[in-house]
Amino acid sequence: MEFALTEEQQMIQDAAREFAQSVIVPVAAAYDDSGEFPAETISQAAELGFMGIEIPEEYGGSGLDTISYVLVMIEIAAADASHSTIVSVNNSLFGVPFLMFGTEEQKQTYLKPVASGQVNGAYALTEPQSGSDAHAMRCKAMLSEDGTHYTITGKKSWITSGPVAKYVIVFAQTFHPDGESKGISAFVVDADQDGFIRGKHEPKLGIRASATCEIELENFKCPVENRIGEEGQGFKIAMTVLDSGRIGVAAQAIGIAQAAYDAALEYSRERKAFGSAIGSFQSIQNKLADMRTRIEASRLLVMQAAWDKERSKQTGARITLAASMAKLYASETAMFVTHQALQIHGGMGYSKELPLERYFRDAKITEIYEGTSEILRMVIGRLETGLR
Ligand code: CAA
Repeated sequence: MEFALTEEQQMIQDAAREFAQSVIVPVAAAYDDSGEFPAETISQAAELGFMGIEIPEEYGGSGLDTISYVLVMIEIAAADASHSTIVSVNNSLFGVPFLMFGTEEQKQTYLKPVASGQVNGAYALTEPQSGSDAHAMRCKAMLSEDGTHYTITGKKSWITSGPVAKYVIVFAQTFHPDGESKGISAFVVDADQDGFIRGKHEPKLGIRASATCEIELENFKCPVENRIGEEGQGFKIAMTVLDSGRIGVAAQAIGIAQAAYDAALEYSRERKAFGSAIGSFQSIQNKLADMRTRIEASRLLVMQAAWDKERSKQTGARITLAASMAKLYASETAMFVTHQALQIHGGMGYSKELPLERYFRDAKITEIYEGTSEILRMVIGRLETGLR
């Protein structure tokens, strides 16, 4: 067993840290405040190859491994969770469907510009009435009589990067002209085409600079060549992609937790009360001990999941258990650590002068998107017992 990073992984971690600390940290609070999409810093991230870390170079990416993806996500999230959300959508939710199920032409046409960061991608699974119960989606894709295209109609909600995405992966219930249902299928659509309508932007508690909106498809004409995978394969594609996505969210949670922990540790050494540094009090040391321990446990879980994913590229084995455990534990750790870090800072933690309150608000989403903690416990429980 080897815990050390390779030279290449170390280099990518250093590069991500340098970029995140020198370029993102100075602008993070302002973007959080305005809720504006950080287009300029994201294009700088693209120049460093961070928008397609695991995507092979021939498809516009950096051709690195899953551990490298995790390392970059941790560093960017430690600087600003909004930036890491945008990075993760391009890398996992948009990139993985093409890598695992896309045709060569789809990879050249849609994956390449997104992985190289020329344009943004998005992933549209959730609908107003179906979030956790993804099977219950109503969006419809009707195959034309001549079999050349689908007409897609329906609403999608909570679409991360929806307001800025050029290409969007859309999941829909598929039907043939004779009325026969073919189950859920996945499609890639161009947001600049007629019938693609961006709806209301979601004002959010945290990750405020990552743009989120509703999307409506109104008689959207989608050529059959834009279907990803087989008809009816869409649900499995969505779930497989979320397994990868959950590793990215777990890494994001670790980054947020680490930033909050570092700030709390420093503050506990400097802040004096009753004649001593507050870090000398057992009540604060106990908090720091629990925080650090849970962050390190999360790190091991996410590295294990990343290692499993790297191996699965050869074996095709599912990584559902490891990815679910990593996201469940890391996201609850991020919530716990940011809560404790804010408490250690007292009134200063509650102030907008420090980033603690932002870390606290940003951490919450990691327990919700790409599978709530309740869904992940259900997934792990089902896999462990073999029962439903
Ligand atoms: N990988 C591959 N296949 C999978 C799979 C996985 N991880 N999970 C399930 N499947 C397959 C099953 O094997 C099954 O196949 P068969 O029919 O051949 O047996 C099929 O899919 C159906 O599985 P289930 O019966 O388990 O499906 P279910 O409806 O009971 O439950 C669920 C599935 C776990 C609840 C699932 O719906 C789920 O994960 N829900 C959460 C959805 C989610 O994470 N939404 C977040 C939206 S995305 C987002 O947040 C985007 C963003 O912008 C950031």
